[in-house]
Amino acid sequence: MAETRKRRKLTAPKFVNMKADGKKIAMLTAYDYPSAKLMDDAGVDSVLVGDSLGMVVQGRSSTLQVTLDQMIYHGEMVARAVKYALVIVDMPFMSYHVSPQQAVENAGRIIKETGADAVKLEGGESMVETITALGRASIPVFGHIGMQPQSVNTYGGFKVQREEDQLLADAKAIADAGVFGMVLELIPRGIAEKVTAAVSVPTIGIGAGVGCDGQVLVTPDMLGQFQGFQPKFVKRFAELHDTTTDAVARYIAEVKEGTYPDDAHSHE
Ligand code: KIV
Repeated sequence: MAETRKRRKLTAPKFVNMKADGKKIAMLTAYDYPSAKLMDDAGVDSVLVGDSLGMVVQGRSSTLQVTLDQMIYHGEMVARAVKYALVIVDMPFMSYHVSPQQAVENAGRIIKETGADAVKLEGGESMVETITALGRASIPVFGHIGMQPQSVNTYGGFKVQREEDQLLADAKAIADAGVFGMVLELIPRGIAEKVTAAVSVPTIGIGAGVGCDGQVLVTPDMLGQFQGFQPKFVKRFAELHDTTTDAVARYIAEVKEGTYPDDAHSHE
């Protein structure tokens, strides 16, 4: 008979061990209780409360206007829903750039007020001091290099990052400073493979090819909730835009025809 293993909560140290054990890591974003619970029940390793919520929940064109209070609001719902996956909450733009002290105060609020396991911040060599300060405060930090959406105005758009030497230097610097993993966003797969080989903590790719230790996608993208622009790296695992539009259209038609609510859906 097949052995059934009891599922245990994934912690930051166990997350790091997954790389050494050669286990691929599946991460998805979530912004609310029901979606986070569904993902946890489905067995995802890690749930990221991404500041992508500025785009996919708030309907903005970038993540720059997302506030710390908004991240805490969404982070708390997600952390409360998740029993097993590792929950990481993004630190939003300007909540950690001013000084390491500002970063510790704001990351402290995220951990205390949401119950999440860790925070994520964007940046390479320039973030070493901040990551070190967060480590001293016992706050697990996840890194994010390559295309950093909070720097969209300096890039002039969401562009593939190809500077191999800088990417390797950034990855090593933040790994040495103490991150327990890092997102590699929008970088050529050959460079992602070199970065993955150069660091002992897991790399989680998004638009970085198959050679990373794991993968993350923005959930509304992979569920096909939007019809507009779709980056090349996004694979749709469902077509929820069409399914939802069809359900809403049928509801409207049945209400207008008077066929819903029918007897089966009414009380005597
Ligand atoms: O904000 C986010 O969802 C992210 C992912 C794209 C990695 O940072």
